[in-house]
Amino acid sequence: MAQLIVAGADDRGVLYGAFALLSQIVAAPGIYGINDRGQPAMPIRWVDEWDNPDGSIERGYAGRSIFFEGGNVREDLRPVAEYARLLASVGINGCNVNNVNAAPKLLDAEHLKQLARIAEAMRPWGVRLALSVDIASPQKIGGLKTYDPLDPAVSAWWSAKVNEIYALIPDFAGFTVKADSEGQPGPASYGRTPADAANLLADALAPHGGVVLYRAFVYNHHLDWRDPKADRARAAYDIFHPLDGRFAANVIIQTKEGPIDFQAREPVSPLFANLRQTNQAMEVQITQEYTGQQRHLVYLAPMWKQVLDFDLRAGGQSTPVKEIIAGKSFHRPLGGMVGVAGVGREAWLGSPLATANLYAFGRLAWDPDLSPEQIAAEWTKQTLSADPEVVRTVVKMLMQSWPTYEKYTGPLGAQTLTDITGSHYGPNIEASENNGWGQWHRADKDGIGMDRSVATGTGFAGQYPPEVAKMYESLSTCPDELLLFFHHAPYTYKLHSGKTVIQHIYDSHYEGAAQAAEFASDWATLEGRIDQPFYDQMRDRLRYQAGHAIVWRDAIVQYFLKLSGIPDEQGHAGHYPGRLEAEDARLSGYKVIDVTPWEDASGGKAVSCEQLVCSAEWSWQGPAGRFNIAVQYFDLEGGVAQFSLKINGQPAGAWAADAILPSKRPNGDNSTRYTVRGVELKQGDVLRVEGAPDKDDPAALDYIEVTPAPKVD
Ligand code: GCU
Repeated sequence: MAQLIVAGADDRGVLYGAFALLSQIVAAPGIYGINDRGQPAMPIRWVDEWDNPDGSIERGYAGRSIFFEGGNVREDLRPVAEYARLLASVGINGCNVNNVNAAPKLLDAEHLKQLARIAEAMRPWGVRLALSVDIASPQKIGGLKTYDPLDPAVSAWWSAKVNEIYALIPDFAGFTVKADSEGQPGPASYGRTPADAANLLADALAPHGGVVLYRAFVYNHHLDWRDPKADRARAAYDIFHPLDGRFAANVIIQTKEGPIDFQAREPVSPLFANLRQTNQAMEVQITQEYTGQQRHLVYLAPMWKQVLDFDLRAGGQSTPVKEIIAGKSFHRPLGGMVGVAGVGREAWLGSPLATANLYAFGRLAWDPDLSPEQIAAEWTKQTLSADPEVVRTVVKMLMQSWPTYEKYTGPLGAQTLTDITGSHYGPNIEASENNGWGQWHRADKDGIGMDRSVATGTGFAGQYPPEVAKMYESLSTCPDELLLFFHHAPYTYKLHSGKTVIQHIYDSHYEGAAQAAEFASDWATLEGRIDQPFYDQMRDRLRYQAGHAIVWRDAIVQYFLKLSGIPDEQGHAGHYPGRLEAEDARLSGYKVIDVTPWEDASGGKAVSCEQLVCSAEWSWQGPAGRFNIAVQYFDLEGGVAQFSLKINGQPAGAWAADAILPSKRPNGDNSTRYTVRGVELKQGDVLRVEGAPDKDDPAALDYIEVTPAPKVD
C-alpha cells in the first residue's frame, strides 16, 4: 500500500508540510511520487498590521480591524483564527497586530489579557503574536517621570512588563519599535541612540527568547527644502550605520526596502549593505498605500523580487539583498522579511486579486529564489481555477500591473507624483515640494529630479558600496528607471532609450493608461470561467482603474506640458479628441470652480452644483454614428450624488456617485469616469448631464468625452 508521509523538525514544520502537500495536489493532481523537502530561507517571516484599538487601520483599504473595536480586542476572534491559517499556509510565523504608531494603553494589564486571546487564536497555526510599543510607555502608562533608556527604573519597568506579557503569552514573539520618527517619541529626546533604546527592550525580552524589530524608518520630517544638501534618503544610513555592532543579539533592524517610503519605484536601501554586525529584516508593504490602495491592480512580487535579487556588492562580493536579510552574507543568526499587510474585515485586502500580494509575500520570505510568475500561477490555480486560459490571463495581468501603474503615476524614479501630505492616492505633483517631508522631485521649468550624486548633490549615491555607487553617480550609467531619483536632468536630456525625459513622461503616461484599459478587457475574457462574484467585483475595480489611470495620465502630462513648454512629438499631450468641457457647456445651476491642484481637472476647471439639481448641456457637432460617452465627475466623501445622461431629453444612463474615495474636495483622489456605451448620435443632438448633490457631495463635473464606439465592445 502506498504511503504518504509528511514530516517536520517540529510541529510547525509538519503543518507547513501539510500545506505544501495541499498546494502540490492543486498544482499536479495525482500525488504519487511526491518527494519534496523545504525549509524557510529566513527565520523572521512576519506580517505587521497597523491596527488601532478603535478598530481603524492606518493605511488599510479593506474595512475595519479583525482584531480591535471600540478600544478593545474584539469578542469574535474567528476571523483572526482564519487569518492565522491563511498566514500559516504560506509559512508566515509572526503577526504584529497593532499600529507602529502604537497606542500605549495596549500594554496595560487589562489589554494584555485581551491580547492573550489573540495569541491563543493564532497559536494552533504556528503564528506568534508581536506588538508595537511606544518607547515612552514607562512614562505614559507606567507613572515614571522619564522613559530615558539608560535609566534603571525604566529598564526595571520594561522587564516587569515583559514578564507580565510572557506569563500570559508564553510564546510571545517580541516588539516592533517606531521611535524618533514622524512625531513618535524616541531616545533622541535624552540624547540616546537607537541602540540604547533597542537594547533596553532586548534585554527585557532575551530571557524569554523574544526579539526586537527596531525600525530604521527614522528621519527628520522638518527638513529644509531650500537646502540642496538636505536629503531624507540619507537618514537611515546616517543614523544606523555608526551603530553597527552595538545592537544586542536579539535585535533586528527593520529597514524599508527603499530609502524613502514604499514608492512605486525606489532604489534599494543602502543600509542593507552597511550593517554587517547587525541582524537585518526588510520591510515591504502588502497594503498598497502608494500603489493604488487596492483600487488599482498592482501585483508587487516583481518589485520585491527586484529588490531581493539586487546585488549590493558589499566588500566587492556578491551580496544580494535576499542573502543579507537571510543572514547569509554577513553570517548573522537572525533576519528576514516583514510585510505590512493591512488586512481588514472586507475580504482580507478588499480587492480579490490583491490577496496575491499577501500570498507572494509569504512565498518569497520562504524562498526568495521563486519567480513572481511562478508564484502568480500557483496563487491563481489555488484561488481561482486551474483552467490554463484563466491562469495565463491572470498571470499576464498580474505581471503587467506594477510596470503599468508606475508608467502612469511616476516617471523615471522621480517617485509616485501623488498627494504626499494627504491621501497618498491621486495625482498632486507639487504636494511633494516646499515642505519638510523630503519627498522632493524638484521639478522646475528646465528639468526634474533630485541630485543625489556625491560630486554635486546630496551625496546619497555614495552610501552604496563602490561598484553600485559608481553606477548611480553618473548620469550616463544610472539606469533610466532611477535617473530622476539620483539626478536633476533637463527635460531635453536623452535617456538610454533614445527618448528625451519629457517625451518619456508623455509617452509612458499614455502607454500606462492604455495598458490599464486592457486589464478590463483581459478580465472580460474570464467571465463564466471563474466564480461570478469574484469576477464581478474585479470587473468593477478594473473599469474604475482604467478611468483613474486617465486622471493620472492627464494630470501629469498637462502639468509637465505647461511647466516645460515643450510640445509632445506624438501630439497627444494637450489634445483630447472628443472632449467637451463642463465649463464650456450651457449650464443650469452649475457654477464654474477652480480645482486644486489645477492639474487634477481638465483645463484646471470643473463645475459644482449648489442647488437640488443642476445640468450641463452640449450640442453635438461631430458626425453621426455610434459612440461611447465618458462622463468625468468627482465622487466626493460624505454624500451620494446622482447623475444622469440624456440625449435629446431621453435617458441614456444614470448612476450614483457612491464609491468610497479619499478627499472632501473635488480633486484627483475622487475624479471618476462613468462610461455610457453604444450611444447613437447625429449632428445637433443635445447631450445633457444632470447632477443632483447629496449632503457634502456637490455632483461636481469635469467633462464628457465622446469617442467612436468600437465595433465589438
Ligand atoms: C508611511 C505611512 C504612515 C506610517 C509610516 C511608517 O509614512 O504613510 O502612515 O506610519 O509610513 O511606516 O511608520
